[in-house]
Amino acid sequence: MPYAHITGWGMAVPEQILTNDDLSKMVDTNDEWIRDRTGIRERRIVRENESTATLALGASLKALKVANLRPTDLDLIICSSSSPEYIFPATACLVQDQIGATKAGAFDLLAACSGFIYATNMAAQAIRSGSIKNALVIGSETLSRFVNWKDRNTCILFGDGAGAFILQASERPGGVYSAVMHSDGSGGDLLTLQGGGSKHPATEATIHQGKHFIEMDGKEVFRFATRVMAQATREALDAAGISLEEVDWIVPHQANIRIIEAAARGLKMPMDKFVVNLERYGNTSTASIPIAAVEAVEKGDIKSGDKLVMVGFGAGLTWGALTAEWTGPFPSKGHVHPEQYLIFGRVRSFVRRAIRFIEGIIFRREL
Ligand SMILES: CC(C)(COP(=O)(O)OP(=O)(O)OC[C@H]1O[C@@H](n2cnc3c(N)ncnc32)[C@H](O)[C@@H]1OP(=O)(O)O)[C@@H](O)C(=O)NCCC(=O)NCCS
Repeated sequence: MPYAHITGWGMAVPEQILTNDDLSKMVDTNDEWIRDRTGIRERRIVRENESTATLALGASLKALKVANLRPTDLDLIICSSSSPEYIFPATACLVQDQIGATKAGAFDLLAACSGFIYATNMAAQAIRSGSIKNALVIGSETLSRFVNWKDRNTCILFGDGAGAFILQASERPGGVYSAVMHSDGSGGDLLTLQGGGSKHPATEATIHQGKHFIEMDGKEVFRFATRVMAQATREALDAAGISLEEVDWIVPHQANIRIIEAAARGLKMPMDKFVVNLERYGNTSTASIPIAAVEAVEKGDIKSGDKLVMVGFGAGLTWGALTAEWTGPFPSKGHVHPEQYLIFGRVRSFVRRAIRFIEGIIFRREL
């Protein structure tokens, strides 16, 4: 049975920074309160010309470059997001088109902030079953577009960004060893974005009622998160037969430093084993785990051979954890320049649209 190795990684965050001081000019809050209660100092916010798909594309190109993998070699693209470009088509298909991943299947996955764990597990399972060889897993969010900037309970928390992994098959042991995924829909009302779905399609009334904004019971979500982080980590480690002592890094969902500290206490692990970067990005939902992992690899903290646990929780309620041994790129010849595939992707997309247009005229005549 092949193993699913993580051979490429990339992240993309908007340039625009929103600090706690900036927020204090928008709502009744202050830097000290936000840092004390959350650990967040600043977050990145998209500009008008940026979106979930542009961030996803940026992260994906970097991941392909690290893996030295051609987009045309991808079999599967999963984009995890709670703020997709559209309800449909899937953001994954937009990325597929732009990078010219001609033979990849593509779909979006929604498991809120646990989405990247779920998506990586799905891709790893597809590789381990032998049905595919190469997968691109993306976590991308622009939750700033759904935040009520007048609600101090939520607007201080979230930020925008994307992270991506390339997963590849190899007979050599390593990569993703185990994962656990959990849900409890009875807590669905604790964190919601109700507007724009089939129950509350956009109308003047839904906009007036603020249904297109994130709503959250912060205290309950906090309680839930502190309960499940350590528990899911232990479960995933048990499933992989790895002991806590063998773990080099925990990459937790970056929601609140106090939640991460509670997980560290629950696991009796020192905080320096936890990858933390939420002070600079806030909670980027499904993108937070890959962004934290990418930064830790680029800093030289996470190295080839290291054993790590990624663990997250979010709306749904959902939670999960995944264990992996970090691999790094497979040895390969030549250099793939994924940017060049953007040009190829654009030309290919244009040609396919043109063919569809011409076929449309011919077909209409035949009718
Ligand atoms: C949101 C969160 C930071 C609030 O922290 P908290 O310690 O629970 O704070 P509380 O809601 O109890 O509020 C305490 C006080 O601060 C006030 N307050 C709330 N938000 C504030 C803000 N942004 N700035 C200043 N004061 C604020 C409250 O009104 C309250 O005042 P009161 O005591 O006079 O009533 C915290 O509950 C949390 O992080 N929850 C988890 C959220 C999460 O992770 N969501 C994403 C899941 S993926």
